[in-house]
Amino acid sequence: MKNIRVRLEENSYIIYAGYLLKKLGGALEGKRYGKKVLLLTDSNVFPLYGRAVEKAVAETGREIVHALLKPGEAEKNFKKAHEIVEWCAKNRMGRDDTLMTLGGGVASDLGGFAASIYMRGINFAAVPTTLLAQVDASVGGKTGVNLPFGKNLVGSFYQPSFVYIDFKTLGTLPEREIKQGIAEIIKYGVIKSRNIFNMMKNTPPGRIKKHLPALIEESVMIKKVVVEKDEKERTGLREILNFGHTVGHAVEIAHFPQFNHGESVALGMVGESYLSWKLGMCKKDVYSGIKEVVGKHRLPFSFAGIKTDKMLDFMKYDKKARQGNIRFVMVKNIGTVKTGVVIKAEDAVKLLKEMIRDEKP
Ligand code: NAD
Ligand code: GLY
Repeated sequence: MKNIRVRLEENSYIIYAGYLLKKLGGALEGKRYGKKVLLLTDSNVFPLYGRAVEKAVAETGREIVHALLKPGEAEKNFKKAHEIVEWCAKNRMGRDDTLMTLGGGVASDLGGFAASIYMRGINFAAVPTTLLAQVDASVGGKTGVNLPFGKNLVGSFYQPSFVYIDFKTLGTLPEREIKQGIAEIIKYGVIKSRNIFNMMKNTPPGRIKKHLPALIEESVMIKKVVVEKDEKERTGLREILNFGHTVGHAVEIAHFPQFNHGESVALGMVGESYLSWKLGMCKKDVYSGIKEVVGKHRLPFSFAGIKTDKMLDFMKYDKKARQGNIRFVMVKNIGTVKTGVVIKAEDAVKLLKEMIRDEKP
């Protein structure tokens, strides 16, 4: 059990890591969280954990009502955000009441966004139940919804009032979802922690589960330090969290729906470390080491069959691109990266094609 304090100029908060859902009431102690809680969750998660959360909240004397989402990314849209704020209004929630999300990154991105706009901002508490949400999505205050033109195009920086992580909820998470989080944990290793990287390198995938609590805590610590220094992505530091995501994002949309986010990031880390090697930023060993760890955890690592030409279009029109130039995060060594490396989309794709040729025996 660990209480990790995220210290920000305004709205500092605690991430309770390793507590049981039935003790959630403890996090709501005091008057700050109002009298009503709207629990936003999805229809996979509610039957598993909804009652435990409702009971824990009710024990604090608060009224709790729930709203159910259909599972999956399709719910992360403006229309649903609108419905949620209407639910808040219908339930007569006031400015001091709390919107609590229980589930993965879809619930916390969407619920956090709704909490940020209802009455110009009500309390938002996140109870993440996927590995991806525990190590990444629920921490750091990025909230938002997708538009038909692209992911996360509308949103806000809105910090939760607290994050409450029960590792035991991962026990019911399907293996493919666990692997999405594993990809992000490998990313934390590459950008900031040899310890995480070596643990991922030396632990067989079948034995990784028992190390998850320690890996989650260290990943969250890395993200919190980055967010404390560059909460609103203004100094460039927060960009390090995007390692693997520029190529990964292009793979994800060029191949939609073949690869989920974590699988795309896994490929993205392989691709971007190859670019780093080819541009002289790191040794070949760094690229091959990352590829090996990704493959070891049964995440995709080969670009054979990847539609690089289609990726080019998405890279050029990425929201981070300017006149076809893209800012990449390049790896220098395990634990050290360089942000803001500008590469033309065409040149990046040319190198990825070279990597595909290199892969052939
Ligand atoms: P998700 O929320 O769709 O959850 C994945 C699936 O797991 C769903 O079907 C859900 O019902 C199920 N599930 C959740 N918890 C479960 C449990 N304990 N047991 C069984 N099933 C469970 O997806 P996700 O991968 O958690 O999040 C993806 C979203 O997060 C994307 O929209 C992405 O853009 C966003 N994201 C945001 C940030 C950020 O900083 N805000 C960072 C990374 C990702
Ligand atoms: N997931 C990237 C960030 O929070 O900045």
